[in-house]
Amino acid sequence: MRSKRNKTIDFSLKEASPELLNQILQPNNSDLHAVQDKIINGDSFKVMNNLALQQVDLALIDPPYNLNKQYDGLNFKKMSTSQYQAYTQKWIDLLKPLLKSNASIYVFSDWATSIALAPVLEQNFTIQNRITWQREKGRGSQKNWKNGMEDIWFLTVNANNYTFNVNQVKQRRQVVAPYRQDGMAKDWQSTKNGNFRDTMPSNFWDDISIPYWSMPENTGHPTQKPEKLLAKIILASSNPNDFIFDPFAGSGSSLVTAAKLNRHYLGIEQSMLYCVWGQYRLNQVKDNQTIQGYTDGVFWERNTLAAQRKFQRHK
Ligand SMILES: C[S@@+](CC[C@H](N)C(=O)[O-])C[C@H]1O[C@@H](n2cnc3c(N)ncnc32)[C@H](O)[C@@H]1O
Repeated sequence: MRSKRNKTIDFSLKEASPELLNQILQPNNSDLHAVQDKIINGDSFKVMNNLALQQVDLALIDPPYNLNKQYDGLNFKKMSTSQYQAYTQKWIDLLKPLLKSNASIYVFSDWATSIALAPVLEQNFTIQNRITWQREKGRGSQKNWKNGMEDIWFLTVNANNYTFNVNQVKQRRQVVAPYRQDGMAKDWQSTKNGNFRDTMPSNFWDDISIPYWSMPENTGHPTQKPEKLLAKIILASSNPNDFIFDPFAGSGSSLVTAAKLNRHYLGIEQSMLYCVWGQYRLNQVKDNQTIQGYTDGVFWERNTLAAQRKFQRHK
């Protein structure tokens, strides 16, 4: 029997209400030109051709990595490096016309996929950075190091003209050895709940765990990204009311996070089941805009939920 604390969204299509199913757009019977704040159930390689040009401020691309992987309705097979590069170039060619001239693009991958990906990304965009996300979960191996990280490539269309709101993505850290100068706290705040410093965000992210079963954002999707991670990207690289596009939307994590942060969004996903899980989450946003780990306008270290709650209560 499932634990009461298990909040995973994993209902079947049969259990989905007709209203929920009707919220998902089907590309054949919809005018997709100016569509916003929706999930489209279809193949991105076909749908992207029908979208309005130059409307996207931020593209979040979480494609199938170059691994054998089962997604609902899709059995993705590992390709040769050159085949994966051709696959990548194909979605880039469809994406480029949709981007504004000052748009940013983030592409997710694992280290092995990155070897194929990087040269293609470099030919098409300016690579601004490669973020390392230190994930906790990963399968152990007897013959190799367990994979404990993912790459997130930060790209822009224009090398110099792009949005980057560094002050909106500071990381709040507990100060272990508080330093005082003339009796005054130096670069940190002393509060009833402890000593904290808000630090500049780096390209090494060790404060974000993957969604797990007791978190309300968790779904049955096999490779779901956490809202906290997407919030960092969205806050840094877009502004309120901007348009965020995700052509491999999965369980809708990027769309939900965009909605919580008052951005417009559009997602495409081949699986109707993942689409309805995403839409179910989107329908809850009006009642709950919290993003676990992002409180008081800053990102908190892992395992600080109690401190965050205390902080909110004493404000
Ligand atoms: C890595 S997952 C994305 C997970 C997503 N970021 C999340 O947080 O749930 C890739 C997704 O792309 C979808 N997909 C793969 N090829 C597609 C295509 N051609 N068109 C639309 N969706 C596709 C898969 O079904 C899968 O859900």
